[in-house]
Amino acid sequence: MVKEMTAQFEYSTLSHPQDIQQLMYILEQCFLSPLSAEEAYINQIGIENFRIIRGLEQLAGGLATLDMGQWWGGVRVPMTGIAAVGIAPEYRGSGAAIALMQHTLKELYAKGIPLSALYPAVQSLYRKVGYEQGGSWCNWEVATKSIQMREQPLPLQRIVNINHEVFHELYQQQARQTHGYLDRHPAIWKRLIQPDEKETFYAYFIGSKEKPQGYILFSQHPAEDGAILRIKDWVILTAAAAQSFWSFLASHRSQIDKVRWRSSAIDSLTLLLPEQTAKLKNTMRWMLRIVDVVKALEMRGYPSEIQAELHLEIQDNLLDANNGRFILSVANGRGEVTKGGKGELQLDVRELAPLYTSLFTPYHLQIAGKLHGTETAISAATQIFTGASPWMADFF
Ligand SMILES: CC(C)(COP(=O)(O)OP(=O)(O)OC[C@H]1O[C@@H](n2cnc3c(N)ncnc32)[C@H](O)[C@@H]1OP(=O)(O)O)[C@@H](O)C(=O)NCCC(=O)NCCS
Repeated sequence: MVKEMTAQFEYSTLSHPQDIQQLMYILEQCFLSPLSAEEAYINQIGIENFRIIRGLEQLAGGLATLDMGQWWGGVRVPMTGIAAVGIAPEYRGSGAAIALMQHTLKELYAKGIPLSALYPAVQSLYRKVGYEQGGSWCNWEVATKSIQMREQPLPLQRIVNINHEVFHELYQQQARQTHGYLDRHPAIWKRLIQPDEKETFYAYFIGSKEKPQGYILFSQHPAEDGAILRIKDWVILTAAAAQSFWSFLASHRSQIDKVRWRSSAIDSLTLLLPEQTAKLKNTMRWMLRIVDVVKALEMRGYPSEIQAELHLEIQDNLLDANNGRFILSVANGRGEVTKGGKGELQLDVRELAPLYTSLFTPYHLQIAGKLHGTETAISAATQIFTGASPWMADFF
């Protein structure tokens, strides 16, 4: 059991039935959701994965930790997602959330987790403990009539009994190629295939059942401004699958007005469409915290053709071991970190996140005042961290 004290707060794991009940009430109030939904959520994530913070006598709040992975440069890096950060209103403004996050991050570091990601309701809170914008979450929409694709090289095979295991292998193949994609937590998988009372889910393999080249999972919803087909999840591994995906969707045009899907801010699926009719419906940036600088830099992949050396000087006000000078040497697609060096690229650990993920270039981070570097360092960092626009399909 984890238990730690600071002057005002006590941080611990969640186990007592009284605390579980109290946390449910706090989360119900914080997130305007029914108590039954919070109970189901806590059970789905697992009680052992919650952390709580106590004031002098009472529970002040808590959060969920989701141990999973994230793909960077073609390699899976362990990452803990943080969700459901909730503090009871009577405890707000007293530093409870900051204390909860600080303890959690120290625990993650001690466990050897290199990365942590979350979706912020308030960015300033998480910036204070070293998170920064890491990548995108985007919903795209297109009018079904404007897809205009008829040719369908592959058949679509209906999956009658939808269970998430049938998707795993195809999903992992796409995830490996997608900068920032999740190696999903089991609770995310379960939620993904669980329709609510008003929904029916439809799932299809794209291509033959024996050797599918992708899949699509969706629901259909009538709406005042036109019926919509919402794609819950998709994988497309070949050009034939991409073409078939669009022509299958276009075949819904007699009743379905719009199709919505999640993709990158720079969505390559729309490249197949005849005109630029697809629109970004809404978008948000998730945040990343480099919890362990050395592990995060060494465990990920890099472009295999690059050979470069970057001299970093990092400041981390929370996790001591991340402070100081490091040399990152990249060759043959892997990185090696040694202590020392010239400290030519100076930055707070917070700003290492958008550099690591390639959300912004070193040049633009410098212009935004987020890092300082010599010309040599900016050029090396540009080579090392250039990558596709990072994104993930899941909200947690
Ligand atoms: C957001 C929330 C967790 C903050 O809890 P808290 O204990 O009041 O936060 P703290 O006292 O530790 O505040 C730390 C910092 O976070 C930021 N912050 C906190 N609440 C904020 C708010 N409502 N808006 C903007 N920034 C906020 C501030 O920078 C603050 O530092 P400051 O007081 O020096 O300015 C709390 O308001 C809450 O539970 N809200 C409802 C649920 C929710 O939205 N959770 C976040 C999910 S991502």
